[in-house]
Amino acid sequence: MRNLDEHTVTDAVLDLLAATPDPRLKFVLTSLITHLHDFARDVELTEAELRAGIEFLTRTGHKCDDKRQEFILLSDVLGLSMLTVAMNNRKPRGCTESTVFGPFHVDGAPEYANGADIANGASGEPCIVRGTVKNLDGVPVAGARIEVWQADAAGNYDVQYPNLDIHQARGVLSSQEDGSFEFRTVLAVAYPIPDDGPVGELLRATARHPWRPAHLHFMINAKNYQTLVTHVFREGDRYLDSDAVFGVRETLVAEWVKQPDGGYTLDYDFVLNSVN
Ligand code: BEZ
Ligand code: FE
Repeated sequence: MRNLDEHTVTDAVLDLLAATPDPRLKFVLTSLITHLHDFARDVELTEAELRAGIEFLTRTGHKCDDKRQEFILLSDVLGLSMLTVAMNNRKPRGCTESTVFGPFHVDGAPEYANGADIANGASGEPCIVRGTVKNLDGVPVAGARIEVWQADAAGNYDVQYPNLDIHQARGVLSSQEDGSFEFRTVLAVAYPIPDDGPVGELLRATARHPWRPAHLHFMINAKNYQTLVTHVFREGDRYLDSDAVFGVRETLVAEWVKQPDGGYTLDYDFVLNSVN
């Protein structure tokens, strides 16, 4: 393995992967090296650009802590998260579509009774969310675990407030015998993804905005059904067609209806995909 040049170095690296015991790891790394080297040749990568790329990834790592996941953000704004979601959640027409998980889910959200107010002090206009969980045959799914999380009126999730040690605008409910659920919360608003780190630099360097259209996050688990991770997006939002993380799907857009006595209602029905 001497005198490698710009054409032969790729095979030299691939040869070294030949003994990788895990076949999937071998397959993935082989493809990664092949594409990475082809990319470098394609753009005629300079040494300064390689250094800048490494420094960017280093800053991305340094920005991460237990509340901030800059690598998820990076994957999101590059469309890699949505691509992976799309490939891994192919399902029959009629099932609720999946979208990105995002970096603001936390474990241990409080459990609430049906009809409860999950805002727990979060700022925002009052909103009632109602819906059902059913399967493709229209059969109600009782006892589904419905986890919801959202930003407040300022566009922040509870975990973005450094001194807040309670959960706000997030919680876990259970669907009723007829598959229905209901909770109170605050109106979802559009918000910018965190852009005070390397991902923000990238967005500015490419003349992109950081905004996401208003949405509620849902994760729904039920026995014998594929876990559903999705959002419901607000009809009429100005960012529906330019979501910074490419997550919008037409079937996930719904109307938050303004009520004459103040506040809003949202009705949305989820359809789960059976696992065989
Ligand atoms: C979110 O919707 O919470 C989110 C998703 C991707 C990147 C940033 C935020
Ligand atoms: Fe969000």
